[in-house]
Amino acid sequence: MQALSQLSYSPPASVQPRLRQAQKYIQIGKKCPILAQVWANAPSPHGRAITLRKCRFRHWFLSSAFANKIPLIMTAALIDGLALAKTIRVQAAQRAAICASKGRPPGLTVVLVGSNPASQVYVRNKVKACEEAGIRSTLIERPESLTESELLEIIHGLNQDPAVDGILVQLPLPKHIDSHQVIEAIAADKDVDGFHISNAGALMTGRPLFQPCTPYGVMKMLESIDAPIWGANAVICGASNIVGKPMAMMLLAKGATVTLCNSKTRALEEHTRRADILVAAIGRPQMIKADMVKPGAIVIDVGINRLATGKLAGDVDFESVRRVAGAITPVPGGVGPMTIAMLLINTLESAERRLHISNS
Ligand code: GUN
Repeated sequence: MQALSQLSYSPPASVQPRLRQAQKYIQIGKKCPILAQVWANAPSPHGRAITLRKCRFRHWFLSSAFANKIPLIMTAALIDGLALAKTIRVQAAQRAAICASKGRPPGLTVVLVGSNPASQVYVRNKVKACEEAGIRSTLIERPESLTESELLEIIHGLNQDPAVDGILVQLPLPKHIDSHQVIEAIAADKDVDGFHISNAGALMTGRPLFQPCTPYGVMKMLESIDAPIWGANAVICGASNIVGKPMAMMLLAKGATVTLCNSKTRALEEHTRRADILVAAIGRPQMIKADMVKPGAIVIDVGINRLATGKLAGDVDFESVRRVAGAITPVPGGVGPMTIAMLLINTLESAERRLHISNS
């Protein structure tokens, strides 16, 4: 099949208003969260009609578009992480209020070592989100010079503190501190990041306690658009412990055939082009281009990169890929807010377990 990017064309001016109207439906994406590429029987630059591809998520308006011969340029549905995160945060606030009424508010302690500017922003956002949801959050900030044993001592104290339901040590840590030692020192039942070896193992064996927040958020986003995961080809670019590996486990558990690519993967595009679900977590700005994406694919962009212009960009070249993909997450406003929302959920689950509150 030809790459859809090659098939794009400018529709005649006479249909532009109808086209804009139709695209509004695509962007709202409520009835058709994933819209496959559609061209009504309008002439393409190749001088022939392009027919409707098989589409699992047809929308009522497609038939009317066809009847009225509206040519549609493919525009991926936006998966709005900000809106979904807001809904989850409202639910989190309700659960936090129940905890408070039945004993005490849930408590999260965040530990930040050093002055990495990106980490400072992430940590501030986490603490603020907790406060807004009624989760008592404490930020422990220590200088870059903190020793590993001093950090371990802080963690041992938090493990013993009954008012602390969740402990999060922001990564990366300074080079002289072994992050594995630190993560393993956190009590597994307070490890709301889900990074502890026993939580990672529990996820792998299908009985997760805490799921790492970013891939957990991605799964919620896929759920929100009723993405067909069972039997799908899922390709993950980036094999980190924080995102790629747990993402693979979660997609596998839902029946996807998973390919986990890493920095040594040869001919990456040969893998990505087979993906029905493509997760980009590489840490290289705009690396995934339109010709690397299967038409109609769901594209999840985990990257947050600061461009030389000062603008934020993901690992996906959004402007070109949105013309090929069926659904796509924006940056900012995509995966980022969901990571924080899932941290709140993990903290609540920990508090509810401790307070013996059933959440079924
Ligand atoms: N650094 C980047 N992402 C994360 C995360 O999800 N948790 C922690 N603790 N550190 C991070």
